[in-house]
Amino acid sequence: MADALKIGVAGLGTVGASLVRILHQRSNALTVACGRPIIVTAVSARDKTKDRGIAMDGILWFDDPVTMAETADIDVFVELVGGAEGAAEQSVRTALTRGLHVVTANKALLSRHGVELAKLAEAKGCLLNYEAAVAGGIPVIKTLRESLTGNNFSRIYGIMNGTCNYILTRMEREGLSFADCLKEAQRLGYAEADPSFDIEGNDTAHKLSILTTLAFGCEIAADQIYLEGITNISIEDIHAAADLGYRIKLLGVAQKTESGIEQRVHPTMVPHDSVIAQVDGVTNAVALESDILGELLMVGPGAGGNATASAVLGDVTDIAKSRPGAQNVPVLGRPAHLLDAYRQAEMQSHEGGYFIRLTVQDRTGVFASIATRMAENAISLESIVQHAKEPATADRPQTIILVTHATMESAVRKAVGAIKGEGYLIGEPQVIRIERPKG
Ligand code: NAP
Ligand code: HSE
Repeated sequence: MADALKIGVAGLGTVGASLVRILHQRSNALTVACGRPIIVTAVSARDKTKDRGIAMDGILWFDDPVTMAETADIDVFVELVGGAEGAAEQSVRTALTRGLHVVTANKALLSRHGVELAKLAEAKGCLLNYEAAVAGGIPVIKTLRESLTGNNFSRIYGIMNGTCNYILTRMEREGLSFADCLKEAQRLGYAEADPSFDIEGNDTAHKLSILTTLAFGCEIAADQIYLEGITNISIEDIHAAADLGYRIKLLGVAQKTESGIEQRVHPTMVPHDSVIAQVDGVTNAVALESDILGELLMVGPGAGGNATASAVLGDVTDIAKSRPGAQNVPVLGRPAHLLDAYRQAEMQSHEGGYFIRLTVQDRTGVFASIATRMAENAISLESIVQHAKEPATADRPQTIILVTHATMESAVRKAVGAIKGEGYLIGEPQVIRIERPKG
């Protein structure tokens, strides 16, 4: 039997503690599967006194993950600390520089430094595996990086943040408040250390930027993603969407267009009868559309200790099974120095359907004025309805809901801008894009 694979785990929170527990509980089966034992020889976290429900006998403790990456007797450095900079970034860089294989679940780090780190790993002949960084337990990285080589992708999209999907589902199903749903997602270990990364859409953007690179062979461009989170989605929007035959999901979408690659993250209305509309709670879904394969939809647990640790474990066991001298899979699907420059398509030229909810003063001519502003911008309407509140009085606000046929983002922004100038609008208009799955 080959020598044991020695691993050091930095970060013993939701994911790290689950990983160490599973490695301990499944050690015999893992040894058989990999042909060698996998042992945790070192760990690092901030608070040595915290009870994490894991056996620490014979494991060396480090307060500082960078020192662990520099000095521990390990073959693999597993980074489960989090954050794009600081201890996570320095320790991963140190481990790769030292020639250690690295496994990380850190999408924030990869979206910011992924290309440099991939170049470093490739120069050192090390593996840098990150299955858990996107869509939790769904093996989408391996699928894109290894199984679908040779396919040309036209669009990839999906529900990539378990916290947001959990919040939207519980708001819709149980009428709970946004704040209560978020608190529960935090308690369950789904949310990021700073949950604004979840609800403002940044976490989805980090994940989308990684998938975009794998699918389209371009450099990571997380800062060129159009971004809207779910904080402005109200129960009223969710109900209005349902009345029209849609559900609201936070989607990340990357699409090839004639002018470049469109990357966007925003609340999205998807047809109620589509598979992605049925994806509820912490579950994630990623759809990949390509020329050879067609459409592949992968659905599974998107966050939480065990689901994420399962993906980390897969990365660790791939390293345990790899043989010295074998060629490594390129970190980002193709050698990092051969990635194309990213060419951004402008959001203004995005084309699709739109849901627009307007709260207006109930006066004569408002309805006609809205229809006129739309027509002036060549926007064709699928429907326009007034949700009249009884009794109708001059000072009682009314809700008008429009659904457009496919139109340009620039036209919608112009029309909504013109409506805002008319003086009858109460509060901000709500604009939600509509996305249609293929087929
Ligand atoms: P977490 O529960 O907040 O755990 C973070 C761990 O890192 C804690 O053990 C903490 O130590 C340790 N840590 C933080 N700063 C440190 C520092 N400067 N030096 C040493 N240790 C430090 O986070 P998590 O949810 O496990 O997430 C870990 C990573 O996985 C993140 O990159 C996250 O984005 C990613 N991820 C999480 C999930 C999920 O469902 N939770 C899913 C996919 C990916 P103490 O325990 O002593 O405070
Ligand atoms: N906070 C993330 C989520 C964890 O809710 O999806 C998984 O990446």
